[in-house]
Amino acid sequence: MNQQRVSLVTGGSRGIGRDIAINLASTGHDVIISYHTNRSAADEVISIISDLGQSAHAIHLDVSDLSSRNTFVTELRSLLSDQYDSDRIDYLINNAGTGLSKPIADISEADFDEMLGVHFKGVYFLTQAMIPMLADGGGIVNISSGLTRFSFQGMSAYACMKGAIEVFTRYCAKELADRHIRANTIAPGAVATDFGGGANRDNEKKRQIISNITALGRVGEVDDIGGVVAFLCSDQAGWINGQHIEISGGMLL
Ligand SMILES: NC(=O)c1ccc[n+]([C@@H]2O[C@H](COP(=O)([O-])OP(=O)(O)OC[C@H]3O[C@@H](n4cnc5c(N)ncnc54)[C@H](OP(=O)(O)O)[C@@H]3O)[C@@H](O)[C@H]2O)c1
Repeated sequence: MNQQRVSLVTGGSRGIGRDIAINLASTGHDVIISYHTNRSAADEVISIISDLGQSAHAIHLDVSDLSSRNTFVTELRSLLSDQYDSDRIDYLINNAGTGLSKPIADISEADFDEMLGVHFKGVYFLTQAMIPMLADGGGIVNISSGLTRFSFQGMSAYACMKGAIEVFTRYCAKELADRHIRANTIAPGAVATDFGGGANRDNEKKRQIISNITALGRVGEVDDIGGVVAFLCSDQAGWINGQHIEISGGMLL
């Protein structure tokens, strides 16, 4: 008999998060996604997951905003109680995020604070709020970036926040181990999504450059990523903890 698992994917309405949500559903998870601006994209994901025979729900979240995070947590609690007769989620996938490409010289404090709020402070405090709601034996997967290992012009503020998340993940793995909650980071290389204005998908010059520096010779697609996260959220990955897994097809090896 399958045990019910309910997992939360932030930014599950589009791109990598959407593929993670669908892969989790394909492997038997009920899924709660958050969306920020695009409710209709979230509804589409709900419909795909329902067709897979799992339940899905969407809640609004601006991860960079404290009052939005508080409202989100309240709505999540009431959804869990109403739909699952529970106050627990099994897996938290911190995926939501936006990019920023600017040289160090041009980064304003507002730019820096935006990256901090979305990619580090928001993830840190959403995770803090979720820890009491995480089931013992569950897990956290944080989405970092290959840009913490290699460096692309203009990506300093974004990449620094992702680096911080990798450190935070290791601390989660350490502090939550007594509850058998695992925490891991995945670090995608360039993936063809709306991210960064869709350049990895639409800009042929950039795509060629990425292909040339990638051992497997192409740009990443969302379905290169979601299955790996679903694996990390499975019992087969039960001994993987505090790890960082780059999923880039071998960029800049
Ligand atoms: N694409 C890449 O090349 C790449 C590479 C490495 C890492 N990543 C990381 O992968 C994650 C997903 O990126 P993606 O490529 O899938 O981007 P995407 O296609 O642009 O999707 C971004 C998702 O995040 C949500 N979101 C944006 N800002 C938010 C905010 N302030 N609060 C809450 N949710 C917010 C969006 O919601 P709405 O649709 O409702 O606006 C959407 O669901 C990000 O953390 C990104 O840094 C991406």
